Amino acid sequence: MTAQAPGDGARRRRTTKLGIVGAGAVGATLAYAALMRGVAQNVALFDVNAAKVHAEALDLSHGIQFVPMAHVDGSDDIEVLADSDVIVFTAGAKQKPGQSRLDLAESTIGIMRAILPRLVEVAPDAVHVMVTNPVDVVTYAALQVSGLPPERLFGSGTVLDSSRLRFLLAEHTGVAAQSVHAYVIGEHGDSELPLWSSASIGSVPLLQWRTPDGRIALDEEARDRIATDVVQSAYRVIEGKGATNYAIGLAATRIIEAVLYDERRILPVSSLLEDYYGISDVCLSVPAILHAGGVGGRVEVPMTDAELAGLRASAEAVRQTARRFGF
Ligand code: 2OP
Repeated sequence: MTAQAPGDGARRRRTTKLGIVGAGAVGATLAYAALMRGVAQNVALFDVNAAKVHAEALDLSHGIQFVPMAHVDGSDDIEVLADSDVIVFTAGAKQKPGQSRLDLAESTIGIMRAILPRLVEVAPDAVHVMVTNPVDVVTYAALQVSGLPPERLFGSGTVLDSSRLRFLLAEHTGVAAQSVHAYVIGEHGDSELPLWSSASIGSVPLLQWRTPDGRIALDEEARDRIATDVVQSAYRVIEGKGATNYAIGLAATRIIEAVLYDERRILPVSSLLEDYYGISDVCLSVPAILHAGGVGGRVEVPMTDAELAGLRASAEAVRQTARRFGF
């Protein structure tokens, strides 16, 4: 018996499409993570480096037998992203050892300015997720450049930093990272802060979690050490291998899933704040509800005065950089 390929008349279901701008370490790892988790049936990569983007798409396609059904395309023609449901922007300057994310602003904003208007043309209905650093400033600038509604364009923000925090708390307390509920908010960068007062492990408030011999597990010293560790995490990885890619690839994949599956999941993405505890007109991470349309409501997490002051200071740091680049 011979099998026939379906002809043009075969019925096709609407499939989802993930577009990725940039086939560097982050873009390629994100494509890999998205394929492994089966988040979209079509994964398209765009990069100005034709040889690199074709090679990445080919390499990923060679493994397609081993992942949920998907098709991978790669091109230096932006049309490859046509009609994407979600577009993740990873193109930009690379952070060198010793550089902060804010040092990358100028070149990254230039790249974003050149590409974003075309993205909006080829995929007019897409939800856009900015990953490129400094992500809060780039997200704010991208909203101005594109004129897109703030629900439909936001940044990966501190989803990754919150995952780093949960990892460190899990190590410290000996429970699974999945059972730690804690957010890092503010800038995805040096001025970010953990929300200790609302964090919990299982259903126990984190500040009351005890060691097996009855001591408070997370005293001020332990909290300060862990908060510093979170901020230093990326620097440490960059020093060792020149870039971070796996954790950000997974974090971005989680964000994409929340949008493509219309999950209404709460994640700390960087979005345009309007009167969030009086903070407005700046893109910063606070817990927000993600659904098919992008970012929904921001969650007003109860905060101590010190946490609120930290968030305000972080907003000011991001605002100052945005202003320096004319936004
Ligand atoms: C990270 O935090 C460098 O922003 C990137 O891994």
